[in-house]
Amino acid sequence: MSGLPSTTPVAVIGAGTMGAGIAQVAAAAGHPVLLFDARANAPAHAIELMKGGLARLVERKRMSEADAAALTARIRPCGSISELKDAGLVIEAIVEDMAVKRALFAELEELLKPDAILTTNTSSLSITELAGGLKRPERIAGMHFFNPAPIMPLVEIIRGFATEAGVAQIVFDTAKAWGKKPVHVKSTPGFLGNRVARPFYGEALRTLEESATDVATYDALIREAGGFRMGAFELLDLVGIDVNWAVTNSVYGAYFQDPRYKPFRIQGEMVAAGRLGRKTKLGFYDYREGAGPPRPQEAAPTAVPAHVSIEGDLGVAAALEGRAGRAGIAVRRLPGTGALVLPECRLALSDGRTATERMAQENTLPLVLFDLALDYAVAPRIAITAADQAPRAALAAATGFFQALGMKVSTVDDIPGLIVLRTVAMLANFGFDAVHAGIADAAGVDLAMQAAFNYPLGPVAWAERIGLPHVTVTLDNIARAYGEDRYRASPLLRRRAAAGLTLSGTTFPASR
Ligand code: NAI
Repeated sequence: MSGLPSTTPVAVIGAGTMGAGIAQVAAAAGHPVLLFDARANAPAHAIELMKGGLARLVERKRMSEADAAALTARIRPCGSISELKDAGLVIEAIVEDMAVKRALFAELEELLKPDAILTTNTSSLSITELAGGLKRPERIAGMHFFNPAPIMPLVEIIRGFATEAGVAQIVFDTAKAWGKKPVHVKSTPGFLGNRVARPFYGEALRTLEESATDVATYDALIREAGGFRMGAFELLDLVGIDVNWAVTNSVYGAYFQDPRYKPFRIQGEMVAAGRLGRKTKLGFYDYREGAGPPRPQEAAPTAVPAHVSIEGDLGVAAALEGRAGRAGIAVRRLPGTGALVLPECRLALSDGRTATERMAQENTLPLVLFDLALDYAVAPRIAITAADQAPRAALAAATGFFQALGMKVSTVDDIPGLIVLRTVAMLANFGFDAVHAGIADAAGVDLAMQAAFNYPLGPVAWAERIGLPHVTVTLDNIARAYGEDRYRASPLLRRRAAAGLTLSGTTFPASR
């Protein structure tokens, strides 16, 4: 099947932030665009603003003047909804209100030809509910663009209960023809991206509530060890702590208070205090004049060890061996269960148990755990933690080892799963859960999280790189440590781990 031909008129309703951007995308692809808004002058105003933006692209030689002029000429500002009657595709981007949207869709069904496709850019409302009770629910779908629409590649194509598969496919193919990266999604609260992304914020907030580290250190670890573009607190400040709070609460409510989605009190307190992020100049960070960015915590330089023994397979952290060799540390290989051994301590990747609990269970040398890094060969920073019963010399030796490798070392409290590992394990868990619930396939999950959220790896692919058994065990251990259902492993993750199989690149979800 192919998308709608570029001769098909596209109606965009709502000429605000999203509608204006979507109109630009459709017009750039060659469609005649009908732009309508309840505020009579809004479409013309949006086109004027767009012309300004395109002029800057022309200046930077990213677009020719003729193309920019042709693009805006294809957008017709409409003063009356009746002017939309010939549209083959409608993209609604009006106020986020179910009753108002439903009334608009009912009016459109009367006005447009029966084969027109009606889509909504809603970021949170159920497509099933929106379409329920309308005359042709099978021709209604979600077309969820991200802000700014001309730049962000992801478009979630959302099917409600009644949406015909063929209709969703036409919308998908059309978005693709527009140069976007569409992903098929079954309607669910938060859709795909906002559902899978929840733990990126949640685990950060929990870490802060537990005083395991400070905001700047947390973000530095997420960026420099995890490879994410932005730390969770930086991102919360950017989007608005109140906006994220509203999404978190709405998703939590929509899943009937499933502990997976439980909000953290500290965020509500920030909202109550009016600390909403950049827009109020005060959020997790201070943006007021004169306030400098806080420095992430970093251990002072410590003595470098002369040699290290590597016992067994370090798994995802195997690159530490080469890095130690390059740093001039003598490496001795021994059989074992995957650990680095210094005279003062044993160093191991977290498996979700606290260092304290694990040292007590394993009854070994003083134990220091290190966190997950996206790429241990180049990561510039790492989090470590020592067991409560380990002497100070253990932490110092571990610090010296990682510093010798050229890494900044941030010591955090002995929390289960540390920081990057816990975040990635939970993102993967949410990703597997979405596949398990038939909301998207594995490729869709990974594409969505990379295209809209800039994750360095898709959560499914990342979990496979770590090893699904390690991710599952980590979640089980964290769940036990907290005694909370929040960390229960997705049945699909557990199953693939048990089978010794991956999920990405298989046809598994489609063939079920
Ligand atoms: P906006 O407030 O910038 O624009 C909404 C426009 O719709 C306004 O120009 C308003 O006059 C018009 N409008 C309101 N009721 C109308 C009606 N009954 N008929 C015709 N026009 C009407 O809002 P924004 O941010 O563009 O959001 C629009 C939709 O897109 C919402 O459903 C929102 O949830 C969704 N969305 C927003 C994103 C964002 O980052 N702002 C991202 C993705 C989706």
